[in-house]
Amino acid sequence: MRDFISVKDVISIEEMLTSAKSIKVNPYEDSGIGKNKTMVLLFFNSSLRTRLSTQKAALNLGMHVIPMNLSEGWGLEFDDGTVMNMDKAEHVREAAAVISQYADIIGIRTFAGLKDRELDYADRIIRQFAACASVPIVNLESAILHPLQSFTDLFTIESYRKKKRPKVVLTWAPHPRALPQAVANSFLEWMQQTDYELVVTHPEGYELAETFTAGCTIEYDQRKAFADADFIYAKNWSSYQEYGKILSTDSDWMVTAEKMTLTNNAHFMHCLPVRRNVVVADAVIDSDQSLVIEQAGNRAVIAQAVLKKILENLKG
Ligand code: CP
Repeated sequence: MRDFISVKDVISIEEMLTSAKSIKVNPYEDSGIGKNKTMVLLFFNSSLRTRLSTQKAALNLGMHVIPMNLSEGWGLEFDDGTVMNMDKAEHVREAAAVISQYADIIGIRTFAGLKDRELDYADRIIRQFAACASVPIVNLESAILHPLQSFTDLFTIESYRKKKRPKVVLTWAPHPRALPQAVANSFLEWMQQTDYELVVTHPEGYELAETFTAGCTIEYDQRKAFADADFIYAKNWSSYQEYGKILSTDSDWMVTAEKMTLTNNAHFMHCLPVRRNVVVADAVIDSDQSLVIEQAGNRAVIAQAVLKKILENLKG
């Protein structure tokens, strides 16, 4: 594994899960592997969990970390052949190559613009960085994928799985802002690597791209979807069909304690940040069945497993 941009970059998920289990027990077991190595973290968009957990993971491996916010005042050009006489200060070709002079690994966070579906789904920013950098790239959430989150979700489900084939339900939930589809896309991409029973439930109009839902059961009745579920994963996303639009804010889609009674005493999951009493009721997120804090804690474990693998390959 050179880059970690999607699940497709991982050669053995099983091996990585075993490595993560070991890291969770002893986070300092490989504290020398990153000695004299530097990770640069580029944030085109804000982050709490990804920023801190990736930094923590790199520090646990002995790396130096340099975070940089690119959200303001540093417009990068991504198109080739452009006459750069407007507001963009630097082309990605130079930026990625120069950052590679200072970094052994580059992490990048960049959200979807939610205006141009074709542009977002080309995942241009992260893909161009990967093409122009001479060091590995780690996806800290791109326009369409959030693999560190989804790998964490898989690790968390595996930790609580009681049966061979648990029923895992991804449910859309309302939100006042238009959010990207990245977490939902990526969650399905990773879950499809398992033999879990996978159900997606959302109002009509919120169908995700078929690339990500192939083989999933789609159920428009949320209550039916919740029946006998072992894990409920809530997330809002804006419409893929009417790209970037909010088609519903129907509060009937909030995850409530009453709906959780339909499940097989399911665990509740969410990537956070979450809008309480909009996406999920207090009674659910504060219940013993809620995994959200452990899930967030596992972000550091998975980031460390990913960085460790990349560092091992650098040495090899
Ligand atoms: N779940 C997640 O990626 O959180 P942040 O946006 O805070 O990084």
